[in-house]
Amino acid sequence: MIALVTGGNRGIGREVCLQLAELGHTVLLGSRSPVAEELGGDIVPLRLDVTSAADIAQVAATVSERYGRLDALVNNAAIAYDTWQSAASADLDAVREAAETNLYGPWRLTQALLPLLRESAHPRIVNVSSEAASLTNMGGGTPAYGTTKVALNALTRMLAAELRADGVLVNAICPGWVATDMGGPGGRPVAAGAAGVVWAATLPDDGPTGGFFRDGRPLPW
Ligand SMILES: NC(=O)c1ccc[n+]([C@@H]2O[C@H](COP(=O)([O-])OP(=O)(O)OC[C@H]3O[C@@H](n4cnc5c(N)ncnc54)[C@H](OP(=O)(O)O)[C@@H]3O)[C@@H](O)[C@H]2O)c1
Repeated sequence: MIALVTGGNRGIGREVCLQLAELGHTVLLGSRSPVAEELGGDIVPLRLDVTSAADIAQVAATVSERYGRLDALVNNAAIAYDTWQSAASADLDAVREAAETNLYGPWRLTQALLPLLRESAHPRIVNVSSEAASLTNMGGGTPAYGTTKVALNALTRMLAAELRADGVLVNAICPGWVATDMGGPGGRPVAAGAAGVVWAATLPDDGPTGGFFRDGRPLPW
């Protein structure tokens, strides 16, 4: 399998790259800064700022030339867990900036890579979301993060419906509270958070689509 992971240089994304490589897959590690460390396995670093249309076009061209297909796209990169903001007084420029990375980035990247995903026999799209996007459990706070992840969940549902006939399985995954730079100390280990993402990237053909999961179990939208 050939998988592309955005934000693969640290946190959950890095661990997803390691776990997919451990399973024997070819991993394209998207990162907006050069990756200095040698991660081992079949891990290929690619420059990819998900807010850059030029980077996205270049990645699509590179994957097309080298592999002619893509089996799994993991939209993991995200910003702005804005615990310091409330919806009532949020800086809307910050919300807009969050949307560039958390919504438009995955959306544009998915559009650019769809022709290559359609070349796969088992195409999968994983949108790394958060329980903070669950409308059922929605309270106040983290407005930039919450609204952009809600929109990512909506995109997940739409893509799943539109691509079902093509066999593309599209799901939103919450990794749980994970001890990363974003999650802070106290969360569970990155390996546990990444496992649920890897699960969705490696679903069998009769696996779910258009779902919202954590640890392979459904979450309320
Ligand atoms: N940690 C948690 O508790 C938790 C809970 C629920 C959901 N999640 C979700 O899990 C995913 C990974 O989170 P994390 O905890 O690993 O976060 P993290 O430690 O803050 O890492 C974020 C990653 O996204 C990358 N990134 C940010 N903007 C980017 C851009 N424009 N282009 C490309 N890469 C970009 C970062 O790259 P740089 O190094 O260049 O900044 C970094 O690799 C996110 O979607 C997050 O919302 C996390």
